[in-house]
Amino acid sequence: MTYAGNPDNLKDIEENKNYEFVKGDVCDKNVVKSAMKGCDMVLNFAAETHVDRSIGTPEDFINTDVFGTYVLLEAARNFKIKKFIQISTDEVYGSIETGSFEETDVLNPSSPYAASKAAADLLVNSYFVTYGVPTLITRSSNNFGYYQYPEKLIPLFITNIIKSKKVPLYGDGLNIRDWIYVLDNCDAIDFILHNGILGEIYNIGAGNEKTNIKITKTILTELGKDESSIEYVKDRVGHDRRYALNCQKLNKLGWKPKFKFEEALKETIDWYKENKGWWEKIKSGDYLEYYKKHYKERHGMKG
Ligand code: DAU
Repeated sequence: MTYAGNPDNLKDIEENKNYEFVKGDVCDKNVVKSAMKGCDMVLNFAAETHVDRSIGTPEDFINTDVFGTYVLLEAARNFKIKKFIQISTDEVYGSIETGSFEETDVLNPSSPYAASKAAADLLVNSYFVTYGVPTLITRSSNNFGYYQYPEKLIPLFITNIIKSKKVPLYGDGLNIRDWIYVLDNCDAIDFILHNGILGEIYNIGAGNEKTNIKITKTILTELGKDESSIEYVKDRVGHDRRYALNCQKLNKLGWKPKFKFEEALKETIDWYKENKGWWEKIKSGDYLEYYKKHYKERHGMKG
């Protein structure tokens, strides 16, 4: 339950009989021990994930992403958990000018965030090799969809435009990301959970490479605005130019994405239009404080 944790995101499953919420820190061995007791599988989604924040405060990332993963692995080892899935990211490979990364490629992370995830991946693999903990690692490309915290490109830009604010585009706007709709990502993780070979790593992507300017223009058009809403700001330090994944390993195992990028983006925009109550609360609270303190300074914005 850090700044991005939000009980509102879990309302629709609150009544499920097979659901239980335990509030605790993944770095707290006792909490993890009592939460994991009696479980057969562990999926580790817990992470600090935002690159810009990791540039400001790397320590949170080392604690949660590296030490937290270690605590979970130790508990999984002791409880003889049947499957441990580590949710990782394409950012561990770093930037690539042409072509795409395969699971066996060298790790070359650029930000403290990406480095913390790469470290966790290595730790997970070591628990498979050394202790025989039955692990799997998934490396996904950029997610988008509903309930995404409005600090990431797509929800930040949608919510800014709805509020008639400008959108801060870093550098020349030509960085490329490979986008996957969150429902496809979750479906792929579930598929790997059931069909993946233990000890293996699987890239998850949907083959939607887009420049940031292209995404921005699509959002502006959908919301009836023009390019005067774009504010070109100072580039992110260490900004990776392009991410691209080779997902043949997962495709050969039998998984394919189901959603079309353009339709999923429209659905996402509609969701933010219809669920202002969810994000207005966030944008007026902690996030705004963070935005004021760190973001404007770093990007040389005035006002
Ligand atoms: O690739 C997977 C990763 O995608 C995940 O592991 C990370 O947790 C997630 O945060 C995301 O990382 P990115 O840095 O690619 O996502 P973000 O939404 O922060 O930025 C996407 C692109 O848009 C990137 O090139 C930076 C740019 N950008 C982002 C923001 C927030 C802007 O131009 N302006 C912005 O205000």
